[in-house]
Amino acid sequence: MTAPLLACSGLTMRFGGLVALDGLDIAVERGTTIGLVGPNGSGKTTFFNVLTGLYRPSAGAAALADEDIFAKSPQAIGRAGVARTFQHCRLMLDQSVFDNIALGALRHRHLGLAAQFFRRRRLREEIDALVDQVRQLANRFNPAIATALFEPAGSFTMIDRRRIEICRALIANPRLLLLDEPSAGMTPEETRRLMDDLLEFRRESPDLAVILVEHEMDVIRRVSNRCIVLNFGRKIFEGSFEALIEDRDVQTAYLGSGH
Ligand SMILES: Nc1ncnc2c1ncn2[C@@H]1O[C@H](COP(=O)(O)OP(=O)(O)O)[C@@H](O)[C@H]1O
Ligand SMILES: [Mg+2]
Repeated sequence: MTAPLLACSGLTMRFGGLVALDGLDIAVERGTTIGLVGPNGSGKTTFFNVLTGLYRPSAGAAALADEDIFAKSPQAIGRAGVARTFQHCRLMLDQSVFDNIALGALRHRHLGLAAQFFRRRRLREEIDALVDQVRQLANRFNPAIATALFEPAGSFTMIDRRRIEICRALIANPRLLLLDEPSAGMTPEETRRLMDDLLEFRRESPDLAVILVEHEMDVIRRVSNRCIVLNFGRKIFEGSFEALIEDRDVQTAYLGSGH
């Protein structure tokens, strides 16, 4: 049996007296989309922050394809194949779509700009290749983005900005994609279209694993293969969407006791 792509055990994150993650055991197999839900403040974003090396966990371990994640810098975690989007838009709105997406590739790549300054042809070729790569990726989400790569990101609609953010995460060719509330600020119709894109992308990249944090239960039902529910940093449920909506602990966490 091969190890899961991501294996976390006993993952714990304390902020002073507050326990944001409390002994989490989570495994994610290749090609699986996990729907991660839980009330506000239950630790979903903290889980992503720990997995991407932004925070050092107080206890516990996490391995990506059997390699210890926490031995690596955030940059090395990115190179090892973990990419994310943020809950709040992190695009540079006055910069071009290309600059925004290319950043996702350049963060992890050594272009050796200083050395290459004197080898302009090689640099030119590398930039041309990157433009092609960005254009092809953007085209998979929306051809209208691919044909306007040098327009400022701020000139696009909300859904296209989300697409650009997802492209920035995908350009580094990750093995594990972490999406933090991609539907935030969008209409239900925009959300539905963005999820169509995601499902299409998943079909073409069958090995990619995704953890999707989302409040919209319709979205969770449509895209996830398995659901995990956090409450006060603890995993209170793991299973199918059908089992999730029937689960008493989950209902209590969302609605309070008495329901
Ligand atoms: N950097 C931090 N410093 C102190 N407390 C934090 C920090 N980040 C998150 N928290 C706390 O950890 C808990 C979990 O937060 P978060 O992971 O953002 O929840 P969620 O994404 O599920 O809404 C919250 O109580 C939050 O206030
Ligand atoms: Mg959050």
